Amino acid sequence: MCGEWNSLREVRNTSHRLGSPSGPLRRSDGVSVVNLGEKKFVVKKSDLIFSSGISEFDRVLGKGIVQGAVMLFSGEPGVGKSTLLSQVVGKIGGLYVTGEESLEQIRLRVGRLGLDKKNFDILGTNLLGDVEAVLGRTKKVYKIMVVDSIQVLVDEETPGVPGSVSQLKSCTFKLVELAKRLAIAIFIVGHVTKEGSIAGPKLLEHMVDVVLYFEGEKNGELRILRAIKNRFGSSDEVGVFRMESGGLVEVRGDEVNLVSSEVAGVGKTITVVMEGSRPMMVEIQALVTESFAPMPKRGFVGIDYNRGQMLLAVAQKSLGLPLYKDDVFVSVMGGVKITDTGADLAIIGAIYSSAKNKMISTKKVLMGEVSLIGEVRKVKFFERRLSEAKGLGKEVVAAKKVQNLVEICKG
Ligand code: TYD
Ligand code: MG
Repeated sequence: MCGEWNSLREVRNTSHRLGSPSGPLRRSDGVSVVNLGEKKFVVKKSDLIFSSGISEFDRVLGKGIVQGAVMLFSGEPGVGKSTLLSQVVGKIGGLYVTGEESLEQIRLRVGRLGLDKKNFDILGTNLLGDVEAVLGRTKKVYKIMVVDSIQVLVDEETPGVPGSVSQLKSCTFKLVELAKRLAIAIFIVGHVTKEGSIAGPKLLEHMVDVVLYFEGEKNGELRILRAIKNRFGSSDEVGVFRMESGGLVEVRGDEVNLVSSEVAGVGKTITVVMEGSRPMMVEIQALVTESFAPMPKRGFVGIDYNRGQMLLAVAQKSLGLPLYKDDVFVSVMGGVKITDTGADLAIIGAIYSSAKNKMISTKKVLMGEVSLIGEVRKVKFFERRLSEAKGLGKEVVAAKKVQNLVEICKG
């Protein structure tokens, strides 16, 4: 190609259009394009979505279980995953595949939960091939299937021990295919560890339609069900349950009060957070003590670690607290994890109260998102929170900046 230096010359290529395949198209029989307007797609929505039998569960899912959906149900061991899914099967019937527990264990639990045994078809196996074979030959039409758990399931056609990346991916891939082909909704149970090392189930999140997370402290009784991802609905909604001797009981109504005692204490504040459309009154506790370690310790329970770190930095700068030489621990009581930044002011309030050894009355509710420069912003759904606080006989403290905590702590 010749041309002047530093100039561009248009070259026309008439031999083929841009983007046209250079060779013959690959043919694949049986594959065709469909038009969504075709009659077979005009299905009533109510035929595709059905209730789980538990209204708190339905709320989190959107309206209910979608036919052929694959839902990853994750949570720490012992939080109550098998219990809740057993309750769903007990209500609406389904196939429960278990590779973790013996049939006798399941029978005992179903009895203890007072569920209808006739609704339970149990398949005790660790092999994916068994699940495929059973579904292939059964005459029964299952609406739902529970696979408890993905970590113990093995696809014999794939290398790797149960729980390995290759097994997790391959089993999930095949379960998704089964769900779509047979129009059976599948709950895949996946354990995650306390440190949030969701290495296993995390890998699977993009493969499934819905990712549910069941959380709560094993020793506490409250459990929160969240949708982290939901292809069929909002992922903000939460379901609240209480673990009792007879299983998980729905906590309905609008209010959830997690404040264990009304007695004020150093390092204790009260706030109202919104989880989904639910206001929840929670208690924050902080402990600030002089550190004797080369690196002061920070511990957060129920609060995101990075958010906690940021709030400590704001407290240090805006309130002049020498936290760089203190160990700081902050905890949300009642075993819930809060994701709402409306709790920021209460967290800093608890830290200030502990650092200064002064109490903040439990009649006062601290609410507000805190910015890096210590401004307090109005929270979303302020009116809902306010009425929740008033309903429980509390006053919401007005604060424009973090420094207002100094007066709040006095009064
Ligand atoms: P489980 O559903 O087995 O947890 P996961 O499947 O998430 O590992 O529940 C375990 C705990 O729940 C167990 O420690 C006992 C408690 N539990 C109750 O308190 N009440 C009940 O009715 C049941 C079935 C379990
Ligand atoms: Mg279990």
